[in-house]
Amino acid sequence: MENAIRNLQQEISEYELTSMKDIEAFRLRFTVRKGLIAGLFGQLKSVLPADKPRMGQLLNQLRQTADDKLAAATAELASVESKKEPALDLTLPGRRSFIGSEHPVQKVLGEMKAIFSSMGFSIATGPELELDHYNFDLLNFPPDHPARDMQDTFFITRGNANGDVLLRTHTSPVQIRVMLDQKPPIRVICPGKVYRNEAISSRSYCVFHQLEGLYIDKGVSFADLKATIYSFAHQMFGSDVKLRFRPSFFPFTEPSAEVDVTCYLCGGKGCRVCKKSGWLEIMGCGMVHPNVMRNCGIDPEKWSGYAFGMGVDRTVLLRYKIDDIRLLFENDVRMLQQFPA
Ligand code: DAH
Repeated sequence: MENAIRNLQQEISEYELTSMKDIEAFRLRFTVRKGLIAGLFGQLKSVLPADKPRMGQLLNQLRQTADDKLAAATAELASVESKKEPALDLTLPGRRSFIGSEHPVQKVLGEMKAIFSSMGFSIATGPELELDHYNFDLLNFPPDHPARDMQDTFFITRGNANGDVLLRTHTSPVQIRVMLDQKPPIRVICPGKVYRNEAISSRSYCVFHQLEGLYIDKGVSFADLKATIYSFAHQMFGSDVKLRFRPSFFPFTEPSAEVDVTCYLCGGKGCRVCKKSGWLEIMGCGMVHPNVMRNCGIDPEKWSGYAFGMGVDRTVLLRYKIDDIRLLFENDVRMLQQFPA
């Protein structure tokens, strides 16, 4: 028995464990339940009682040596494997890379900007986090105007030294910033994001885009406003669209109008999109209110001007036949990939 143990000890210590295969063979030969070491344990029964404790001890040592050697070899092999380069599978298909493209909103905004630049308008921008002073007060909104309600406006902080901070509800405060900053003549457009606390649906979202226009000079009249809008609409929506100006009200313009174009989907016959009316509303506009000019240090006796403001997103939806405004803001690549450069 003792010889058998010594022989096994010898064999185990000389056994080379360099591969997974060696390790498995070693395990099957020595350490499994039907292996050689267990076999020797089985023979303990027939050893003389006086020798049993010593043999038992030797066998336990033998088992420990085999287990340790197996564990060390397994760990060593695992660490070598983990340092190797990952296996290269040359049969895998290649990864496709996609070229980015302009977002449909930016495409439409780009067209709008190009049309107005060709008419001599430059571009002005302002902050999306705005003071209520610019978003409302200086635009001649009375203190109790419903648009100031929490229902419509996302207020960020209230009651600061400079007034309430809010997410601008329209691009009109950029008009104010431009008038406070520059002396007339002024001819700018102000594109950008605006925010309203609206019920979210496929047709309205809490963020959307507007493009504002402002022209101040000597002797600017409503006829100038009309000519500009006509020219814009014919380039943007097609030279055959008709326009109509409906009297309206905005605190910052007087007189004010809303502008409709004949529905460019049905040609004015009436369809689901124009709700059978044949017309689509495209913007609000008017002559800049004397109070607004005065608020910004511009003398309304000397200067006059017009302003307009239009939504951008609806044009995007109609142009690209997208039926849910939320898709414009989710940045889902599956949507964006449908608008290649
Ligand atoms: N700010 C208005 C809105 O958000 C749109 C607008 C109407 C802008 C008339 C103007 C304007 O500059 O003259 O509904």
